[in-house]
Amino acid sequence: MSTSIPFEECQDKASPNKNIAPLTAELDDAKRLVVGGCRLSHLAEEYGTPLYVLDELTIRKSCRAYKEAMDKHYKGESLPLYASKANSSLALSSIISSEGMGIDVVSEGELITAIRGGVPSQNIVFHGNNKSKCELNLAYQNGSIIVIDNQNDIELLKDIASQNIKKARLMLRFTPGIECHTHEYIKTGRIDSKFGFDPDELEDIFVQFKEIKWGELIGLHAHIGSQIFELQPHIDLVEVMVNALELGKSYGHSLEKLNIGGGLGVKYVSSDDPPSIANWIEVISKEVCVACEKRSLKLPLLMCEPGRSIVATAGLTLYRIGAKKNIPGIKTYVSVDGGMSDNPRPITYESLYSACLVDRPLAQSEGKVTVAGKHCESGDVLLKDFSLPNCKTGEVLSVFGTGAYNFSMSSNYNRIPKPAAIIVANGKSELIQRRELPEDLLRYDILPDRFIQNIS
Ligand code: LLP
Repeated sequence: MSTSIPFEECQDKASPNKNIAPLTAELDDAKRLVVGGCRLSHLAEEYGTPLYVLDELTIRKSCRAYKEAMDKHYKGESLPLYASKANSSLALSSIISSEGMGIDVVSEGELITAIRGGVPSQNIVFHGNNKSKCELNLAYQNGSIIVIDNQNDIELLKDIASQNIKKARLMLRFTPGIECHTHEYIKTGRIDSKFGFDPDELEDIFVQFKEIKWGELIGLHAHIGSQIFELQPHIDLVEVMVNALELGKSYGHSLEKLNIGGGLGVKYVSSDDPPSIANWIEVISKEVCVACEKRSLKLPLLMCEPGRSIVATAGLTLYRIGAKKNIPGIKTYVSVDGGMSDNPRPITYESLYSACLVDRPLAQSEGKVTVAGKHCESGDVLLKDFSLPNCKTGEVLSVFGTGAYNFSMSSNYNRIPKPAAIIVANGKSELIQRRELPEDLLRYDILPDRFIQNIS
């Protein structure tokens, strides 16, 4: 039978998204799993479980892969942005900024995390299909680029910016009408989408903006979806976007930036085979150059907005195995001390993951088990019919590829506190988010006076 050794499946160390485990994953002399120079079972002991672990080197290599590929393959200027919805924290904002990338934010929370993490305001791009006036005001005052999605954004911004001298720096988001093969919930580029203007509205917007003095249309944006393995949808996207660019310029708008969104997939299980970061960027860059040359347009500053492919592979989650239940002839449940509150992706999208026991990663599998979480919900399953060695209560399990859309989508379902997050590099580990305590969860509860008498 096979072993569960995902860190041996590395195909392309230059492109973190083509690996299942972090790039620094290795075995020590006793064949125990080490990441960032830290033994994973020691980390579980020191910080407790569940525990989010991020490998700094993998994040930095992902950022560099984007930057280097854009520098190499795009003839104009470029700026990759990190889509912080994948995982937002001060530490990540700081790493991203130190790698020379910008950041995409979609809420006041993400915006202040980027600002306080040291991201320069001109490198922050603010998105959202229903931004509040307060959020727009903060983004405007901060000097960030604002992506307008609808007329409501324009109305609110007019109130904010027309009283000031500083012009709002705006990009226009539209739905390009492109289908891609990914989960229904994470498709965003087709016409039936809550995001962005309909392409048929573009001309009217370009006309409307000719009269607007408080803001300047500096670029166009579109995003077609997430966890995409094909290259063709992005090639088609470029064509549609450059057409829109030509149209906008014909109305006199400067539109010097083109943001093609994110979406590059990552390898969660061995059958996943996403393109490398370099390949994705090369294909898109060449397409933009060709499309612009064909129309004699000046090359725009090219932006992309990867989230998952920057952080997913860098992350893993450590759980301790607790109860086991064998239902003869049916299945064995192995329960861990986290689940759908720290990783809602399996229950939401039926997402697949890879995992192994951290101190026995090479042990032979002895059959399939279902790794369940601890929440009061039958669907709270992290790994379905998964090959694992016969494991003991108390052993530590590592689930790989959890750096993106795990912490950022986590909840307190069943009033379970959120795990701590740490970053590892060169044999050192540092806390970047402290573990929540049950007491923290009571912080916003208010007991009206009239109920107090019921408490003995
Ligand atoms: N830009 C925009 C405007 C986006 O909406 C997104 C993702 C990205 C960039 C980054 O896409 P990425 O490179 O990460 O694929 N919760 C889902 C993913 C939702 C993605 C939402 N938008 C999941 O866990 O799979």
